Amino acid sequence: MNYLPIDYIEPVFRPPSEARSLILQVSNGCSYNRCTFCDMYTSPQKKFKPKAIAEIEKDIKTVAEKMPGMTRFFLADGDAMTLSFRRLKEILECINQYFPSMERVTAYCLPRNIKKKTVEELAELKGLGLSMVYVGCESGDDKVLECVQKGETFETSKDALVKLKAAGIKSSVMILNGLGGRKFSEQHAINTARLMNETQPEFVSTLVVSFPMGEERFRAGFNGDYEPLQQSDLFTEIRTFIAHLELKNTVFRSDHASNYLVLKGDLGADKQAMLDKIDLALNKPGAIPLRQEWQRGL
Ligand SMILES: C[S@@+](CC[C@H](N)C(=O)[O-])C[C@H]1O[C@@H](n2cnc3c(N)ncnc32)[C@H](O)[C@@H]1O
Ligand code: SF4
Repeated sequence: MNYLPIDYIEPVFRPPSEARSLILQVSNGCSYNRCTFCDMYTSPQKKFKPKAIAEIEKDIKTVAEKMPGMTRFFLADGDAMTLSFRRLKEILECINQYFPSMERVTAYCLPRNIKKKTVEELAELKGLGLSMVYVGCESGDDKVLECVQKGETFETSKDALVKLKAAGIKSSVMILNGLGGRKFSEQHAINTARLMNETQPEFVSTLVVSFPMGEERFRAGFNGDYEPLQQSDLFTEIRTFIAHLELKNTVFRSDHASNYLVLKGDLGADKQAMLDKIDLALNKPGAIPLRQEWQRGL
């Protein structure tokens, strides 16, 4: 049940770490919507459309009357950062006006969403409270990115992460465990680690790719070359990924509900401890508690 005076177009998704944030639906759906693994915005009511600024202002004002002390805000839906610099600035100014104790604003962000925004513009958005974006890199391997039609490459993802850092906006990067299947597993792990090493994001999380609505569309992109990873293969892939990471100050998490094995820590400090935990899961079944199938979800 929706207790807020906002008319959401369902379903609405948000990162787990935004559970306490006010979700402001400043756009509906995803402007790209072509990644073959993602069914989040494929239902007819989720066709991409920016919300009119007057509607957004009305939502902000009505929530502020009921809950003026809100401090965290998440701009939905799938890639709110596709909105123009001017529109994002208007939205952030409005949040600042009605919520004087605002602490942070975050949003999902595709690398291409910031291509047309300058570092100066991004820094201005940061100054208005946009402190972090969740970037769905998914992989740093160009072959895998091509097979899943992400529409991005190692270089475009790198450009975006470097630009965000230059503007002072933190990146929380999402990586998909198992995305390349068996054939591309190793290169997916190694090239994704290389992308992280060259960009040093503040947060990295991994999710296990899952297909609650079927994997037909996803398989088609691999031309018959997709063989899903078994649980131990998923662990091996994460092990390869972490072993190749050379991060100085990044919070790493694989605690999303899609993961069998929960890993959390600071990289580099906790790298060896995480590798040891994966080795235990691989070599001594039962020694580490794993999520059961019924406990997993997207
Ligand atoms: C709601 S999407 C929005 C992210 C944003 N549009 C982007 O691509 O950068 C958030 C994340 O969910 C994850 N996701 C989407 N489909 C998934 C699937 N089938 N299995 C696991 N994770 C998935 C991807 O990591 C994706 O980046
Ligand atoms: S992963 Fe992101 S960009 Fe790709 S379809 Fe889903 S929401 Fe859109």
